[in-house]
Amino acid sequence: MAKITAGLGTSHIPLLGRIIDTGDSDKPEWAPVFKGFEFTKEWVETQQPDVVILIYNDHATSFDMCFIPTFAIGCGEEFQPADEGYGARPVPTVQGSPKLAWHLAESLILQGFDMTIVNEMDVDHGLTVPLSMVFGEVEEWPCQVIPLAVNTVVYPSPTGERCLALGRAIRKAVEKFPEHLNVQVWGTGGMSHQLLGERAGLINQTWDKAFMDSLRLDYERLSAISQVEYIRESGTEGCEMVMWLIMRGALNQSVNEVHRHYHVPVSNTALGHIIYENVTNENGEDQVL
Ligand code: DHB
Ligand code: FE
Repeated sequence: MAKITAGLGTSHIPLLGRIIDTGDSDKPEWAPVFKGFEFTKEWVETQQPDVVILIYNDHATSFDMCFIPTFAIGCGEEFQPADEGYGARPVPTVQGSPKLAWHLAESLILQGFDMTIVNEMDVDHGLTVPLSMVFGEVEEWPCQVIPLAVNTVVYPSPTGERCLALGRAIRKAVEKFPEHLNVQVWGTGGMSHQLLGERAGLINQTWDKAFMDSLRLDYERLSAISQVEYIRESGTEGCEMVMWLIMRGALNQSVNEVHRHYHVPVSNTALGHIIYENVTNENGEDQVL
């Protein structure tokens, strides 16, 4: 059976993709940001995931005001890096996992989540930057990726409660898939930031750190944060953090935090990054969250 073994959260700051692509990640101003991913690169090599379910938001790249799915799942064979204005990033094509993705779509819809099924879409920094931060510069991404896009760009985005519940449903779905697969769930986006308007440039470090401190055990409280509270405390784009709740919901009740990295300044947001491994109880059983 397929199994979710670990979860990872990370900001998906587009500038970091640019820094990697221009070969500037060793520069003194950027080195501390990338240093926090050295552990991650070694860790992922030991974990060898077969598939990553990568929760991200499309930033008006494939979905614009013409249509805005709240939750969309990429069921295609492959996904091209998007042209976000400066040409597509020179990173490998993302290989999908159509069999598992269609299984997830079916199971999630039957569990009450009305997923939009997408077979063709280009994937922007929300998806490609986390892949680069974790896998580095590679000829091919070393695993298959299922893009799961969440609307956090156009009000209203889904609630934290709904996102935590979606994570739980993803876990149930994966566990019913008959192939033996090591699956990870990555939640991307955040941390606090606001790109436009009077408060553009807002970063709330206290709020960011409290969110990371609470995600392991106090996820129910985090899931009750309203969109208005996200905007007030963490800026208009801070609600990207709901995607970390999907990741958390897909894991066991008990997880080990094996790594954390937080760095300011980077761009308009802090870089936040966390890794959780599932912990089984004394009988070797997983306990659902
Ligand atoms: C930034 C962060 C984002 O998550 C994003 O989508 C765009 C920009 C930033 O920090 O600049
Ligand atoms: Fe973003």
